[in-house]
Amino acid sequence: MQDRTPRPEDLDPIERASIDELRALQLQRLRWTLSHAHANVPPYRELFDKAQVHPDDLRELSDLAKFPHTDKATLRAHYPFGMFAVPRERVARLHASSGTTGRPTVVGYTADDLRTWSRLMARSIRASGGRAGDRVHVAYGYGLFTGGLGAHYGAEELGCTVVPVSGGMTERQVMLIEDFQPDVIMVTPTYMLAILDEMRRRGVDPRGTSLRVGIFGAEPWTEKLRAEIEDQLDMHAVDIYGLSEVMGPGVACECVETKDGPHVWEDHFYPEIIDPVSGAVLPDGEIGELVFTSLTKQAMPVVRYRTRDLTRLLPGTARPMRRIEKITGRTDDMIILRGVNLFPTQIEELILRTPQLAPHFQCVLTREGRMDELTVAVERRPATTPEQAAEAGAVLAALVKNTIGVTVGVRVLDPDGVERSMGKARRLVDRRPGGPTGG
Ligand code: DLL
Repeated sequence: MQDRTPRPEDLDPIERASIDELRALQLQRLRWTLSHAHANVPPYRELFDKAQVHPDDLRELSDLAKFPHTDKATLRAHYPFGMFAVPRERVARLHASSGTTGRPTVVGYTADDLRTWSRLMARSIRASGGRAGDRVHVAYGYGLFTGGLGAHYGAEELGCTVVPVSGGMTERQVMLIEDFQPDVIMVTPTYMLAILDEMRRRGVDPRGTSLRVGIFGAEPWTEKLRAEIEDQLDMHAVDIYGLSEVMGPGVACECVETKDGPHVWEDHFYPEIIDPVSGAVLPDGEIGELVFTSLTKQAMPVVRYRTRDLTRLLPGTARPMRRIEKITGRTDDMIILRGVNLFPTQIEELILRTPQLAPHFQCVLTREGRMDELTVAVERRPATTPEQAAEAGAVLAALVKNTIGVTVGVRVLDPDGVERSMGKARRLVDRRPGGPTGG
């Protein structure tokens, strides 16, 4: 793979700052955010009053723990614009994340917020190995979802040639990759797999394309899938993280030279890890729920926003900012099966250890009588015969039993048997009575 490490002189000064400089900047910006939220967003003032805290109570960074948490429910309760801190006329753009149930969560940006976002996305693309002059194929969806437009303006900011393809029309994705010769692709990892299959169907050699770097996020994916994508496509596969409520993509991003978990751009977002049950702040290194406080956002500051993503904070490596460990799952995606907790990413790892199986799968929950059952529906690889597939299914069931400790059913389907998504894959299908897709 081509060396894509950015030159030190191309980094933002803060990417080379000392920890002390970074912490001093954070404290100053955190004070601003708390005062801004308190003064301009009535729901924050109420929350602070209820918790008997005032922005002046923040003397050091750890004082943030005194302030109340917020979550999706806080934002929904003030739908659509009740969490905005600036008059509506100053809001230059809206985005929304589609919840699985009910109203979407609406987010707003001032013109300054949009500039910050573009710069942080440019920083993320550069960290991933993109450079000015590169051609960037954006296959994240354009629209209310933050993926497409976030990637788009970041790539422009970096000085790239952007190809705004959006998601879908997989055949055309392959044609445009062949014809326009992009260096970088930005897409969900599962949609990359669909594009990869399409390349093979059309007789295109996936290792022979112009692509050098893939910037993948918006859904959990594993080290095993990184290895698969890097091997099949001969390109760097880099993890980008973000969420609409905090900004969109580019809250954190891996560096191509280390690929050891996304660095949080801590000059703009202050991360904490909390115990998801008690809400207590956990020390760096411990696994819990990721929480963010924005440090510079004008239109919609967020204070201690609970992401529901599970990970831990690790020290900086390629940059001074702390890293998050690759996200294993969301509290929402956790399956509790006969007392054992498991995540679809654990199933992904095991599928990728079974060479006859393709990484297209869904976890289907059903209920027989009073017992919950989990069936993994997974595809065989095209080169695997149906007989080999049956054997591989039994191997996978045994792997799950031995490593996770639960009995699951495995259904091995023919290639294309699992529903493809153009964006975030639906890994969990709950068909239990009363479940979202049940009776
Ligand atoms: O998914 C923003 C985004 C777009 C990130 C493109 C990266 C690339 P939402 O639709 O609000 O925003 O969903 C946010 O997606 O809380 C995580 O659960 C999940 N997620 C995002 N990036 C990653 C990642 C966008 N790299 C939610 N790894 C987050 C694991 C991720 N999960």
